[in-house]
Amino acid sequence: MNWRALFKPSAKISVFSLLVLGILVGVVGFFGTQTALHMTSTDEFCMTCHSNHSLKDEVMASAHGNNKQGIVVQCQQCHIPQEPFAYLKKKIIVSKDALTFMMIDGFNTQAWLDANRKEQADKARDFLRSIDSSTCQNCHKRIYENQPDTMSKKAVRMHKNNAKKAPEKRKTCIDCHRGVAHPYPKEEAEGEKGESEAEG
Ligand code: HEC
Ligand code: HEC
Ligand code: HEC
Ligand code: HEC
Repeated sequence: MNWRALFKPSAKISVFSLLVLGILVGVVGFFGTQTALHMTSTDEFCMTCHSNHSLKDEVMASAHGNNKQGIVVQCQQCHIPQEPFAYLKKKIIVSKDALTFMMIDGFNTQAWLDANRKEQADKARDFLRSIDSSTCQNCHKRIYENQPDTMSKKAVRMHKNNAKKAPEKRKTCIDCHRGVAHPYPKEEAEGEKGESEAEG
């Protein structure tokens, strides 16, 4: 076959080259997306827009960055779900933030975060609630059954009682746990304190 034939508008060839082209685009697209999605799942990526916010320091000061085991939990381990569908959905939402980023004046300043902390925290909490805190449960797998002996009696009791409830009445991790990585704004938190609130 003459290579020029590829460019001739012959029906037979064009179907063949379209097929090859289609497979190529598919393969490149698949790996391209995988790489792109993984690149966007590092703390460094998050910090491209949040670099002047105290968020990383807060994590380092919390139990999720400052523990005996030396484990540092990454932003996306809490904020981006591992389940493929939920993951993509959240990624698309984050990509909308690129637009917001350019539109909000002074977004990447500590002053903006301080002024908007409550609203931002509640958005983050709404999302975590919508996925039943599944990111927390990726690590904390034994909260409701077979708890480690080292867990405090209070924690075991609270978790057991919650597990006994009907699924629709059950609380999700973040309903009881606030400020596990960043300090939840104090003043506003007061009025909302429920019977079963746990700080941290
Ligand atoms: C392109 C810039 C950009 C990048 C990159 C980015 N963010 Fe954001 N982020 C924003 C903007 C802008 C907001 C405010 C959005 C709003 O108020 O609608 C925000 C808000 C948030 C919020 C609070 C509001 C919410 O919807 O939950 C969380 C949590 C968050 N970002 C986490 C992350 C994490 C984790 C990463 C890394 C995976 C990340 N961000 C990467 C720009 C960015
Ligand atoms: C990547 C794994 C990982 C993820 C994800 C994770 N944690 Fe943790 N968590 C840890 C580790 C490690 C510790 C520290 C254990 C220690 O100090 O012995 C910890 C400690 C805690 C503690 C006890 C310390 C404290 O702050 O009072 C709570 C409560 C907790 N996590 C809740 C959560 C919640 C809620 C989420 C989801 C928003 C979450 N964790 C997500 C690994 C994780
Ligand atoms: C009904 C409220 C409630 C729910 C729901 C809940 N917790 Fe807790 N949790 C508590 C309380 C209360 C404590 C004890 C806090 C203390 O001792 O200061 C605790 C303690 C913990 C601890 C520390 C345990 C230790 O070693 O003492 C971790 C980790 C934890 N919870 C993770 C989770 C995760 C992950 C989820 C979701 C799967 C969850 N919790 C759901 C109330 C709750
Ligand atoms: C251990 C889980 C965990 C880790 C790690 C974590 N976050 Fe969060 N983040 C949360 C939770 C839960 C909230 C909701 C507020 C709350 O409950 O205190 C939140 C809230 C936020 C908010 C809204 C403002 C606020 O302070 O509440 C932003 C922005 C944010 N996180 C970005 C980040 C970035 C960037 C990183 C990495 C440097 C990160 N988070 C690491 C769990 C985590």
